[in-house]
Amino acid sequence: MATAEQVKALMRSHFNDESERFFTIALQVAAHEAMKGHSALAHDIRRIVDNEKKKKVRLIQFPRELNSLLLTEEPEETLNELVLKEKQKKRIQQVIYEYRMQAKLKSHGLMHRRKILLIGPPGTGKTMTTRVLAHELHLPLHTVQVDRLVTKYMGETSSKLRLIFDLIADEVGVYLFDEFDAIGGERSMENDVGEMRRVLNAFLQFIEQDTSDSIIVAATNNPGLLDKALFRRFDDVIFYENPNSAQRKILISNVLGVFIAGRFSWEKVLKYSGSLSHSEIKNACFDALKQAILADKQNVTSSDLCGVFRYRCQARNEM
Ligand SMILES: Nc1ncnc2c1ncn2[C@@H]1O[C@H](COP(=O)(O)OP(=O)(O)OP(=O)(O)O)[C@@H](O)[C@H]1O
Ligand SMILES: [Mg+2]
Repeated sequence: MATAEQVKALMRSHFNDESERFFTIALQVAAHEAMKGHSALAHDIRRIVDNEKKKKVRLIQFPRELNSLLLTEEPEETLNELVLKEKQKKRIQQVIYEYRMQAKLKSHGLMHRRKILLIGPPGTGKTMTTRVLAHELHLPLHTVQVDRLVTKYMGETSSKLRLIFDLIADEVGVYLFDEFDAIGGERSMENDVGEMRRVLNAFLQFIEQDTSDSIIVAATNNPGLLDKALFRRFDDVIFYENPNSAQRKILISNVLGVFIAGRFSWEKVLKYSGSLSHSEIKNACFDALKQAILADKQNVTSSDLCGVFRYRCQARNEM
């Protein structure tokens, strides 16, 4: 049976509507059961979790020309699951608040803030933030496959962009232009071959003209590449960075939960994880958890975790 702590954590995440956390704890319960030799039960729990996750994803059925360019999801991540600085969280809360209060704003001739640019290194929560916005606003998330848009339809990118902006106006949702620098690259740079400049100009024009209720998010980890003309088209620019030690502690506790060993040197663990992103920390914690389970250990020690962090840092430096 799951421990009392796991049952309480499951209940808390259920009542707080934190499905990603719920899944994580369910997998911890599965791991716990596997360790005690209850492999059939562990397998069942994992299968239930996998099936639930699969249900969430479906492909969009919009105009045929856009079929392979948009991926539609109904994300489940909540604001509570996002581990960010208070300052960043407040900006995200403001987007949510203004969306909810849009009728009041409109009655005074004002629009809710809805064109948002997210900038920061990989794995720090830009895509997750967009998923949280969709979940909190009960809107579908439509991710524009920017790389396909630009490479596959070179020559007709601007007309596809127009179709996407038509959709943004017709179908209220959260629209994410991920890896946005592929579109928003500096107009004067090497892409000065005409087509890319036309694409960027088209984007600038479309985003400026857009007065829909949809939320438009652009995300990039290459802000230096962005054309300066873009910045003033957005209502808000939010910067992301690797987690500080308080945030690292929360991320680690969220994944490892009751698997954290009794004598655990947080000081050492926080020091070793200093250069890692949110995503790398979570993945390293899952690695440490798996190692403990496969070695039939009851918990993860600070040395185990530091070993995995060291490995992640080395792997990244060798890339
Ligand atoms: N701030 C965060 N709080 C909690 N979990 C996070 C955070 N940032 C990242 N993660 C975890 O890492 C995963 C990957 O993060 P995400 O895709 O949001 O990164 P990103 O900033 O969009 O990176 P990239 O620039 O590579 O697209 C998330 O699904 C989540 O599990
Ligand atoms: Mg991303």
